[in-house]
Amino acid sequence: MKSANLKLFALIGDPVEQSLSPPMYNAAFRALGLNCAYVALRVPKQFLTDAIGGIRALNIAGFNITTPHKIGIVGLLDELDESASLVGAVNTVKNDRGKLIGFNTDGEGALRALEEKVGSVREKEVVLLGAGGAARAIAFSLSKAGARLTIANRTVSRAKALASTIEQKLGIEVEVASLNRAELTGALKNIDVLINATSVGMSPNADQTLVSASMMHRGLVVYDIVYEPLRTKLLREARRAGGRTIDGLGMLVHQGALAFEIWTGKRAPIKVMEAAAKRELRG
Ligand code: ATR
Repeated sequence: MKSANLKLFALIGDPVEQSLSPPMYNAAFRALGLNCAYVALRVPKQFLTDAIGGIRALNIAGFNITTPHKIGIVGLLDELDESASLVGAVNTVKNDRGKLIGFNTDGEGALRALEEKVGSVREKEVVLLGAGGAARAIAFSLSKAGARLTIANRTVSRAKALASTIEQKLGIEVEVASLNRAELTGALKNIDVLINATSVGMSPNADQTLVSASMMHRGLVVYDIVYEPLRTKLLREARRAGGRTIDGLGMLVHQGALAFEIWTGKRAPIKVMEAAAKRELRG
């Protein structure tokens, strides 16, 4: 790494200490021999505007945004790509000669990770748990890809708002459910794929799950975007029910690979990124 002409990339969020992004991107930069470096920067909510000013002043080449800034950042950028304007949230920014352009690679990343394992989601019946930032992006990508979607969320009004935004923007109908056990069990009958896009089950609450084995059926594909731990309680319940499981590593790697390609214009070394993320998780 030479400091002359070094291109700097960053993650902005709070907290960021546990992030797998620095090792993942730095391994990718090294693999392609790029003189680039990626650092995680903790930015509390009240400093977001100052941080973006700092990024402009320091000419940071690109950055990722994570909780709690994915929505707050929208008004601070110069332009939004369609992926971000549709969802109303940003996870990736490219600094294009001083112009900050926002993208959202979460939905496409999750879709790639899912389709890599089960093929096309077109006409598949999917229940998505959650209506927060990550769930929004995934809901748009799944709807665009032709899945038949039900959004189930603790706060039902948020699920309804998301469903009606998708209907308005894409002209695609989306069902809504609550997490009430009887209602959710009914919604899960005969579906093809269940996706958890809530934070439930994430360490340190690794013993929690919104759906248990008795609510699932054999052959159901269960996909959890939580990757800390990789084998969540939800995925263990799915195994007990005879379902197929997909863990959160794929989405992390694919959303990162898409960001890498936006920044560098080069094909991302996906295997290198996956190995680096895995190493960090085990370490
Ligand atoms: P992110 O950007 O990571 O998606 P978020 O926008 O805060 O984070 O969304 C978190 C999601 O997890 C929401 O769908 C939230 O449900 P609410 O909309 O009802 O808040 C869901 N969630 C978090 N903790 C939960 C819990 N204990 N039980 C059920 N849902 C939970």
